[in-house]
Amino acid sequence: MARKIVTVGSATRRAIKQIFARLDYARLGPIYCDEGGDEFWAAKRGLCQRLGTTLASSLVVRLKPGGTSLYVGAGVAEIPPLAMEILDLGRRVIACNLRRREVQVLNRGCGGFPIRFQHQAAGAVKDRVDHLWLVSVLNDPERFPELSVLSYGRANPVTFNARKFLPQQRTVAKLVDHCLGRLTLPGLITTTVEEAVWVAEWCHRRGIPYRIDSRTFASPTVGDPICFMKIG
Ligand SMILES: C[S@@+](CC[C@H](N)C(=O)[O-])C[C@H]1O[C@@H](n2cnc3c(N)ncnc32)[C@H](O)[C@@H]1O
Repeated sequence: MARKIVTVGSATRRAIKQIFARLDYARLGPIYCDEGGDEFWAAKRGLCQRLGTTLASSLVVRLKPGGTSLYVGAGVAEIPPLAMEILDLGRRVIACNLRRREVQVLNRGCGGFPIRFQHQAAGAVKDRVDHLWLVSVLNDPERFPELSVLSYGRANPVTFNARKFLPQQRTVAKLVDHCLGRLTLPGLITTTVEEAVWVAEWCHRRGIPYRIDSRTFASPTVGDPICFMKIG
């Protein structure tokens, strides 16, 4: 009987190390930060590799070999779990990102390994998946400034712009509806505590049971607490 994989394999750890050593941090700097990109990556690159591998080790036991995952907003922090899914579990992964330049840098860094990022909106993905990765996307301050301050509990009631908030809320609800609609049940979602409310609301409306694992993992780039949700 085949043994169940319980941690990230050593060949995958070596691949992750090589990819992180190869990434062009000078080009990633202005993509992630308005200023101070060099300092940001000096502080974050090791964290992304280390915390990402810890998270990948927790994810590996929750996924079946041979399934499919949809990553919405996959960036540097997602390299370890993507590598684990593809190299250790032989899973298919659709890793979407709306920043064209970041996708180019990531794909160059992953050259020689079967890990590919796509410059594509997750809302256009038609495939069925058994795992959805949705981390620090629905509260992204760049795309959803009003929704983001509200989500993080930082909205100022004096200056909050409810008129700008409403279309952001509709866009996020549509994205959530599309991505969750791609998930086969029972399914797994890796998300953040702040974003879990969107998944919970989607499940409530449909009478679908869900369970949020109490353990959380700090996201290395944004600092949001990441959690696992089982739905269906
Ligand atoms: C704040 S960043 C978070 C990136 C990464 N998950 C992390 O934690 O470092 C948000 C990312 O989501 C991506 N994004 C936002 N909406 C998206 C969509 N509809 N489809 C694919 N990617 C999307 C953006 O391109 C960006 O890369």
